[in-house]
Amino acid sequence: MKRPQATAITSGKGGVGKTNLSVNLALALHRAGERVGIFDADLALANAHLVLGCRPNRTIADTLKGTCTMAETVVQSPHGVKMIAGGSGLAEVMGLSDDKRQKIIGSFSELSGDFDHLIVDTAAGVESNVIDFVAACDRVIVVVISEPTAFVDAYASIKVLHQETGRERFDIIVNRAPSIAHGDQIFSRFRAITDKFLKVSLNHLGTVPDDEKLGRAVGKCEPVISSFPESPSAKAIMQIAAKIRATEPPAVDEGALGFFRPRADYLQAVAEG
Ligand SMILES: Nc1ncnc2c1ncn2[C@@H]1O[C@H](COP(=O)(O)OP(=O)(O)OP(=O)(O)O)[C@@H](O)[C@H]1O
Ligand SMILES: [Mg+2]
Repeated sequence: MKRPQATAITSGKGGVGKTNLSVNLALALHRAGERVGIFDADLALANAHLVLGCRPNRTIADTLKGTCTMAETVVQSPHGVKMIAGGSGLAEVMGLSDDKRQKIIGSFSELSGDFDHLIVDTAAGVESNVIDFVAACDRVIVVVISEPTAFVDAYASIKVLHQETGRERFDIIVNRAPSIAHGDQIFSRFRAITDKFLKVSLNHLGTVPDDEKLGRAVGKCEPVISSFPESPSAKAIMQIAAKIRATEPPAVDEGALGFFRPRADYLQAVAEG
């Protein structure tokens, strides 16, 4: 059996649409028949459950405290996607030590048989939480919008993620573009900058247009592909999900700890209690 694919959705600047893309991509993959989980890795300010329209009664904080196994922490959302919620505002998830972060990542191996895809909605920026959760994923999607500050922050983010994790390939989603054609231009402009200064290869996974329906869906606590399936943003997200299904993520170092990639010493520690 294939191990699940873990996909990080990250960005340099905050507020560019990571959570909405994470939730809607997760739902689009679910509708295509995949078994999907979403992990809200923006631990301290977790809010993916709001966009997904569910009220989790367990969070990753319970796994960390040891009161729940990882499998017990998984909650079912109304749309069929399963969720591992962050611990918004909970002291347990603030300033996590490296060990605790690695423990969370390692615990996902308990769920290997349950998912085909895990979507990891990260915080913005390049703090340790983001770097470690991104490093643990097979595929990394960086969300960019067409604003000078977002460009600079996305560039800085890719530079740091490349340096810290050795990853060379990054998928890019251009969000809030005035049109699909503009999205291509925005991507080309962004790639010209990274090509000049970094040894990374960027793949344009797709463009999601700026769409007032998406804002309206957020107001209803529903994913846009559920509330407004015919809207431009919903259609674009469905296409991106189809692309994700059709392409394998780049090969990763199987010896390194990642989501569903248990490291031998971790497995031994678990076996020894
Ligand atoms: N394609 C879009 N069209 C219109 N509005 C959008 C689009 N994408 C995102 N937004 C708006 O941006 C807001 C922020 O989106 P979201 O919470 O997904 O960003 P984020 O990157 O997860 O933010 P944070 O960095 O705080 O976690 C949404 O509530 C919505 O109003
Ligand atoms: Mg978010």
